[in-house]
Amino acid sequence: MAPPTPLPADFEWGFATAAYQIEGAVDEDGRGKSIWDTFCHLEPTRTKGASGDIACDHYHRYEEDLDLLSRYGGKAYRFSISWSRIIPLGGRNDPVNEAGIAFYDRLIDALLARGIVPWATLYHWDLPQKLHDRYGGWLDVEESQLDFERFAKICYERFGDRVKNWITLNEPWIVSIFQDKGYATGGNAPGRSSINPQSSEGNTATEPWTVGKALIMSHARAVALYNKKFRGTQKGRIGISLNGDFYEPWDSEDERDKMAAERRMEFHIGWFANPICLAQDYPICMREQLGDRLPAFTEADFALLREAKMDFYGMNYYTSQFARHRDEPASETDFLGNLIELQENKQGVPVGEPSGVHWLRSTPDLFRKHLTRVYRKYGLPIYVTENGCPCPEEDKMTRTEAVEDTYRIRYFQDHLDAVGLSRTEDGSDIKGYFAWSLMDNLEWSDGYGVRFGVTFTDYKTLERTPKKSALLLKGMFEDRMKQS
Ligand code: NOJ
Repeated sequence: MAPPTPLPADFEWGFATAAYQIEGAVDEDGRGKSIWDTFCHLEPTRTKGASGDIACDHYHRYEEDLDLLSRYGGKAYRFSISWSRIIPLGGRNDPVNEAGIAFYDRLIDALLARGIVPWATLYHWDLPQKLHDRYGGWLDVEESQLDFERFAKICYERFGDRVKNWITLNEPWIVSIFQDKGYATGGNAPGRSSINPQSSEGNTATEPWTVGKALIMSHARAVALYNKKFRGTQKGRIGISLNGDFYEPWDSEDERDKMAAERRMEFHIGWFANPICLAQDYPICMREQLGDRLPAFTEADFALLREAKMDFYGMNYYTSQFARHRDEPASETDFLGNLIELQENKQGVPVGEPSGVHWLRSTPDLFRKHLTRVYRKYGLPIYVTENGCPCPEEDKMTRTEAVEDTYRIRYFQDHLDAVGLSRTEDGSDIKGYFAWSLMDNLEWSDGYGVRFGVTFTDYKTLERTPKKSALLLKGMFEDRMKQS
């Protein structure tokens, strides 16, 4: 077997989680409601009956969880800060909740006491419900960015002496398309849908694009504020986590499919990365298809985007697909670039290997291509801020079966080699990697059945059991890092 591809000796690695997926304690210590609390309880069928009310009870068990993290050897930990714990009503004139601050103080101190570097995400999908009620949340581009900026400011002020790595938003594409006021599929909180108006509160096909702009400008405000007021004294780094699959043409000989594959990535990644990383307008293919439905950036917006220079591109990567062009003109509710997405190519060859969830197939070769494409296009150092999978049939396994996780071990090995190859062969600057996730947790609308953790969570007893991959990852990194 070929030796694994090397990683630099200072490569940062660890595990990632998000507040609503693990914390529980939703009514404790003054926390306000978020749109996910409402979504899970209003429409339980949309989340397979699950909610984050208890989740992994991490709010009370964080010491135990951080002990696991230490045992696994992780050097860094990516967690998210629940906006509704810090400002229960969310807005820029609403009171700050000291008990919420105190929880993250304890968490951060407990990490530092163990020598683990904190990486904090400001927004991992849990918008305070009150902001949704007041003005439609992310649908109001002006209001939402001011409220987010104030939330960011409080986090920098209160935690920035110890937190030196900030991620503004997690996966704005998912927020705009799957989540919140709609905006396209209605699959996430609170379930408005542009595609299926029956299930919505009267959405239009412009909502995802409006939400996208609110998120882009909120990110820009939070970064510009950090650069202006906090960077000098706190000396930290700031970036964003963008997800995105890599797309190959369905027919590799067909120019139209090649363009469709490229267009699909522009609609997903370029939508955010053009303004955020390059301070440029949206990709041309988006403007061509969407016309005025895509909100414009003003000169003042561009000025802010230019001020919002960030330090890294956070990449969440799980899978890839094929894209096939369509001859028909795009409908108003097409959000993907007018093409067909497929898991097989023209010859019937499937992309990668199936995992434990239908949308994820293990595609390390395409991960390498994706890393390289993103690095060449946007030129920022990359941190892989999420990567992982559920094993096939893991939802049906007992604990004893699940801890074997052979598939996950292979997935990590192959994806780490892809990181190594993109660095050494293609010259990409990749500085770190976070495995998703530290433990099995609430997989949003898929409930608790889909298990992404390296730790098995027994949801009846809340007992945690390390899976083999958790214990092997350290060795995988050490083997790679000592060769460099
Ligand atoms: C990305 C999201 O950030 C995370 O919350 C989710 O659990 C994983 N993908 C797996 O779907």
